[in-house]
Amino acid sequence: MTNKTLIELKGTSTQMLLEVGELAEILHWGKNIDVSLPQSRLALQRPVPYGRLDDDIAMSLSPELARGLFSSPALEGHRNGLDWAPVFTISETIHYDNQLTLVSEDACAGLTLKTELQLDQHDVVKVRHTLTNNKPGAYQVNRLANTLMLPERAKELMTFFGRWVHEFQTVRQPLLQGGFQQENRRGRTSHEHYPAIVAGTSHFDEMTGDVWGFHFAWSGNHRLRVDVKADGRRYAQAEVIYLPGEVALEQGESITTPWLYASYSDRGLNGMSQQFHEHVRHSILPSEFSSKPRPIHLNTWEGIYFEHDPDYIMSMATQAAQMGVERFIIDDGWFKGRDGDKAALGDWLLDETKYPNGLAPVVEHVNKLGMEFGLWFEPEMINKNSDLYRAHPEWLLAVDSYQQPAGRNQYVIDLQNEDAFNYLFERLDYFLSTYNIAYIKWDMNREVVQPGHEGRAAGYEQVVRYYQLVDKVRAKHPNVEIESCAAGGGRIDFEVLKRTHRFWASDNNDALERQSIQRGMSYFFPPEVMGSHIGASHCHSTRRRHAIEFRGLTALFGHMGIELDPVKESDVEKQGFERYIKLHKSLRSLLHSGNSWRLMTDDKAHQISAVVAKDKSQAVIQIAQLAMPTNSLSGHLRIPGLDPKARYQVSVLDKPALFDDIVNYQPPWMEEGCELTGEWCEEIGLTMPILDSETAVLVQLQRI
Ligand code: DGJ
Repeated sequence: MTNKTLIELKGTSTQMLLEVGELAEILHWGKNIDVSLPQSRLALQRPVPYGRLDDDIAMSLSPELARGLFSSPALEGHRNGLDWAPVFTISETIHYDNQLTLVSEDACAGLTLKTELQLDQHDVVKVRHTLTNNKPGAYQVNRLANTLMLPERAKELMTFFGRWVHEFQTVRQPLLQGGFQQENRRGRTSHEHYPAIVAGTSHFDEMTGDVWGFHFAWSGNHRLRVDVKADGRRYAQAEVIYLPGEVALEQGESITTPWLYASYSDRGLNGMSQQFHEHVRHSILPSEFSSKPRPIHLNTWEGIYFEHDPDYIMSMATQAAQMGVERFIIDDGWFKGRDGDKAALGDWLLDETKYPNGLAPVVEHVNKLGMEFGLWFEPEMINKNSDLYRAHPEWLLAVDSYQQPAGRNQYVIDLQNEDAFNYLFERLDYFLSTYNIAYIKWDMNREVVQPGHEGRAAGYEQVVRYYQLVDKVRAKHPNVEIESCAAGGGRIDFEVLKRTHRFWASDNNDALERQSIQRGMSYFFPPEVMGSHIGASHCHSTRRRHAIEFRGLTALFGHMGIELDPVKESDVEKQGFERYIKLHKSLRSLLHSGNSWRLMTDDKAHQISAVVAKDKSQAVIQIAQLAMPTNSLSGHLRIPGLDPKARYQVSVLDKPALFDDIVNYQPPWMEEGCELTGEWCEEIGLTMPILDSETAVLVQLQRI
């Protein structure tokens, strides 16, 4: 019998307990408990029923079919038809603090599998594998998955779905028998299949229940699954979908999976999100800008689209600066021949007919107004109607001899082609070296249909090369911040966030739609990385109209900006922009560093979010009325996360214009303010106001 050791990884309030022998099995992943008694392991020994294999089969961190596990294996591959059923034995265990590295060998198959597992002080676990081929003959890897066990009480799932202008929608389903599988084959993180999943005890909600959240840090094709085995044991698995033949390891070569991030909380979804938010803040986001307040944006896209006139753009900038904008970004339409979305992608030269005096006067004007300047690029894309394509049709990511459908009239550039890669870097480098550009909006508007390089599948490598291109740009221009955008929220994940600073959450600026998009995004991302802009009153993507108060408050709880043409706006609207920009600036440090909460509501027509300062000295609460109130009264506003014994002054910071006209009277606390303890706020709360649908109120709490 092999020696088995118990290994404990401890976070702040959670713990992972593993048994490591020939293989490694998670025995406990949940609350921190004392596991020091030598016989405690006995309590977990499984019985072996009739009618199945005679021995107990452990559910390891890398399940293997050949051990008789009958689960989705971690590795599927072969060497020209051989070595297809590997069985790994741990040969080396390196345990240091909260990091565990296991090296496993299968000498027959000539393979080494390294598994790295870490748990940080924010209670976020990350796991990945590295597979190395040690024998002559290419080892064809079909699948290599990260696996984490879930306890049997995980009986429900929350998964994500969406589409363009409708990202981050959530849906619940039971996890009883069988399981769940999601595949993304769109070549980017995707609007449709955001790579995250939450499992939990029955009816887990924002405040209660045990939940285990998973986020797969990869910006390409992926597969997520949560399986219930026939014996009731459960596990979650996440992997890159490798296309046929694309990963063939020669002797000595390795492949490393992306990290799978996961976090357990016994405080429901809010607890889980707060852990992920802190992890993102401390371990994912590039650290250089962590203490810099996130500047308010004006992005030109919905203001002028492709109509670029530098004098006009400068007048937009002047007005933007007057309203308090801190960063001015010229979106699509500035480069040669880009008069619409049918041509010019790839031709990264300034359009001199639009900008006869060059870009410098505009950049200087923006800088003189005290704002940073940003510029839009879509480096990975090409229009067939472009000089670049005419010169280099072979730079297309494609399978020769096959047609592929265009997406927004465009195609993808093969980043494995060195010349293409170098050309893109040179173009980005040229603009960043020539002008004082502080920020790039890096877009990607098309899905990847035929990721072929020299005839072979290259979907995985295309993503790797994209990361390398961003990394190379950042290494040369470390002071430039980057936004990850892909037709809105099509490339939002932890891996891209390691090299970028902000996400464009959606092309949908409709405040009502944004409420659900931003809520969905908040499960894994803190507000400061979520680009949220006030759009024009008449929303371009839904044609709905919203008052400035609702648009302003909705954009307030993110990295705020405006996306319209200020020159054309009325004075009333402009005063509104100024007001919300000012409000955002006054709350920015709280919003971008505090604990975010999605509040439970008595009426499902409401959506309420709060941010409570880490030291509990203050909080802001946004009450959004999404639809008609269900009843004539809307129950109570209860605010968690405060200091129970402290006294707080409650006041209203913002409300809809017609707030008092729609009722006999609103709750008096809203007019007069009131003083309450944190305990009262959490347990009893305050009566809710009566609101029209598609309006919002902002409440502030300050410790006295
Ligand atoms: C899609 C982006 O999401 C928009 O914000 C804008 O940048 C357009 N592309 C420009 O083509």
